[in-house]
Amino acid sequence: MSDKPVDNGKRTWLIASTCAGAVGGVAAAVPFVTSFQPSERAKAAGAPVEIDVAGLKPGEKLTVEWRGKPVWIVRRTPEQLAALPKLDPLLADPKSERKPDELTPPYARNENRSRKPEYLVVVGICSHLGCSPSDKFQTGAQPSLPDDWAGGFLCPCHGSTFDMAGRVFKNKPAPDNLEVPPHTYLSDTRLLIGEDKKA
Ligand code: FES
Repeated sequence: MSDKPVDNGKRTWLIASTCAGAVGGVAAAVPFVTSFQPSERAKAAGAPVEIDVAGLKPGEKLTVEWRGKPVWIVRRTPEQLAALPKLDPLLADPKSERKPDELTPPYARNENRSRKPEYLVVVGICSHLGCSPSDKFQTGAQPSLPDDWAGGFLCPCHGSTFDMAGRVFKNKPAPDNLEVPPHTYLSDTRLLIGEDKKA
């Protein structure tokens, strides 16, 4: 029942999110493409997905599918974690207090929004109109981002930005942080997405 990280080439996964009013005035579908190997169990509707994150290096992200949605697992670097508290004044919901039952389980209502500080686990769907944000882990000035960018995600549809904890910045179209799905660790590196406790 195990799943492997992306890039194993077993299957191409395409989800198109409709983005009315996307850049250029075109009601475009903004897809994201990745690969994954779903388990037989995971193919069943809503089944939890188990994944080993041992191969994930600091600064890397992998994507798995859970309930038809992309779930990102990011292994954050010490620098990325250290930047999080400094961003609080710039964020719409820095303490993850909005819609706690939908967006942030109790064990993720902390500065890192995670069970383990290193690993961010979030659903990669923008809380505005459902596009999938892009990785913007590189820090510093770059197009569509502030000069002091500390790393995070940029939604290509209408410019919402999220930090490395999936927290949305203020004054952006997206109203809420990215969803932290129910999850737990079965061992140091085996992660179960879709359940809070051992099955
Ligand atoms: S869908 Fe509009 S900003 Fe993300």
